[in-house]
Amino acid sequence: TAKYCTTNDGKEKNISNVTVIGGGLMGAGIVQVAAQNDFDVVIVDKEDEYLQKCMVMVRKSIDRITKKKFPDEPKLASKFVNDTLNRIKTEKEPSVGVANADLVIEAITENLDAKWKLFEVIDKAAPKHCIFTSNTSSLPIFEISKVTSRPDKFGGLHFFNPVPLMKLVEVVKAENTSQETFDTLFQFSKDLGKIPVACKDTPGFIVNRLLVPYMMEAIRFVERGHANARDIDTAMKLGAGYPMGPFELADYVGLDTIKFIVDGWHKNNPDNPLFNPSEMLNRCVEMGKFGKKNGEGFYKYTN
Ligand code: NAI
Repeated sequence: TAKYCTTNDGKEKNISNVTVIGGGLMGAGIVQVAAQNDFDVVIVDKEDEYLQKCMVMVRKSIDRITKKKFPDEPKLASKFVNDTLNRIKTEKEPSVGVANADLVIEAITENLDAKWKLFEVIDKAAPKHCIFTSNTSSLPIFEISKVTSRPDKFGGLHFFNPVPLMKLVEVVKAENTSQETFDTLFQFSKDLGKIPVACKDTPGFIVNRLLVPYMMEAIRFVERGHANARDIDTAMKLGAGYPMGPFELADYVGLDTIKFIVDGWHKNNPDNPLFNPSEMLNRCVEMGKFGKKNGEGFYKYTN
């Protein structure tokens, strides 16, 4: 039987069926964590091929976790794997995928028009009580929610990559998110074994709002010729105790992703100097240097 998500006052809430839309890097992780924590999950993606890829990612990751969780108990291990996988269904049609959902977590491509189109469709198909959330990193939650008839039942659930390992979830209370919706999302995050933090609907929420301007200022530091990337990384690791320097971090996040985020914020807040573009970053992206994922960013990678 599926688990129920309860609010802080202990009243039963009816979150038992979760639909995740977009089975990419983040969606696959969210599906896995929800199924692993006893929720029934439907994963929706556009093509069979993407759904299969998503299930391969989920399976691999569950296998890895199971080996750690049950190193000497093969029976329990295989029960855990089977129970988790049995809670996941796949679906191509968003309106079918949300028909029984208590909670929808949208994790499709970071594009406002695409998100609007999707939410317009599922708003008509999902039950009235169903809560909608977006895992967006850089778009305003209120803006996304505008096309639905339920902005009060709409909030942000911002997970971190890799979802099965990263403990944090930023729970975003947008202008119209009701307290009840927010409380349910906060408790749901705890039910996933995560540590939720509360944040208003402000660009980048907490983590990216502090990290992106920090990485951009590090890049501008090099542009001004005040230090080189390697020395800045060494300084921040040894002097500030950070596990990665800003350039290592930028390469890990993806320079294309950072440019996309900062350009979006700059467009909406042209007067905020923290969001100013950088020539050097733009040049790297133009040259196809996206960071660790494709072999070169500020550093070169062999694997
Ligand atoms: P991704 O590109 O790996 O996956 C997106 C998936 O959505 C693909 O499988 C695609 O086929 C599917 N999709 C696109 N349009 C669709 C539609 N209309 N209906 C159904 N499926 C659709 O992207 P990723 O990295 O998983 O990001 C997803 C969301 O999560 C974005 O909003 C992003 O900003 C956010 N996010 C990403 C993080 C990251 O580290 N990659 C971290 C936190 C949030």
